[in-house]
Amino acid sequence: MTQPLQSKPDYGIDAPAVLRNLFLFGTLCIILRFTAPRLVHLGSIDVLLHPMFAWTGGFLLAEAFLFLYYVKVGKFGHRDLILSLHTWRGDEQVLDVGCGRGLLLAGAAKHLTTGHATGLDIWSTTDMGGNAAAATERNLQLEGIADRCTLVSEGAQAMRFADASFNVIVSNLCLHNIYDRPTRQKAVAEIARVLKPGGVAILSDYKLTAEYAQQLTAEGLAVTRRWGNPLATFPPLRIVIARKPIV
Ligand SMILES: C[S@@+](CC[C@H](N)C(=O)[O-])C[C@H]1O[C@@H](n2cnc3c(N)ncnc32)[C@H](O)[C@@H]1O
Repeated sequence: MTQPLQSKPDYGIDAPAVLRNLFLFGTLCIILRFTAPRLVHLGSIDVLLHPMFAWTGGFLLAEAFLFLYYVKVGKFGHRDLILSLHTWRGDEQVLDVGCGRGLLLAGAAKHLTTGHATGLDIWSTTDMGGNAAAATERNLQLEGIADRCTLVSEGAQAMRFADASFNVIVSNLCLHNIYDRPTRQKAVAEIARVLKPGGVAILSDYKLTAEYAQQLTAEGLAVTRRWGNPLATFPPLRIVIARKPIV
């Protein structure tokens, strides 16, 4: 059977196993609420199972739906918020660190006239469903900006770019995926290294943003932090805005 030709960009599902597990265990708890005995005796303690399963199931399913809302709707608003934090000229060299299927990369490229946007990724399918350079390339073509974009397959902790290569660096939900701290710090140091004096790095994540901010401040950048829209992003996302001084 022939596959239908993809006609619209598909920005994928972030952390698909996390979303699946939230739905799975949430549903299981609700089923247990109606099928398990109401009370169990653990030695001298009576445990009421029904409220425990109802609350846990409700909590997990609420998280699952909020995350699904971010994946399907909220992340587009979050992309627009991130990109609105820079005043675009059109001639910028842009880097998207952990571009995944090109959400920020394509959005940034649409602001460019003579500039160029580079997406860097290791294409982890754990972090993003259907992640692959070919899937991102297809999205860039469908968005009509493939000619302004390049994809680079390598880790953020060891970038091939020369010092001071980019005017704007963006990154969303990437750096926390580097679990070991020294490697993560290398990635943040690489971001500071390849940013041009006068350039801005805008890094969004659901945790560790204080760590990124502290390191970038120590690297001599002027750093502020702000929240994303709490109604559109789940888990709530924080944004580090780091400007490299002109020396
Ligand atoms: C949750 S996805 C987010 C993708 C995209 N930024 C977005 O907002 O749609 C995280 C991305 O970071 C990438 N990633 C994880 N570790 C990385 C590393 N060390 N270097 C570069 N990319 C990495 C993953 O492959 C994945 O595409």
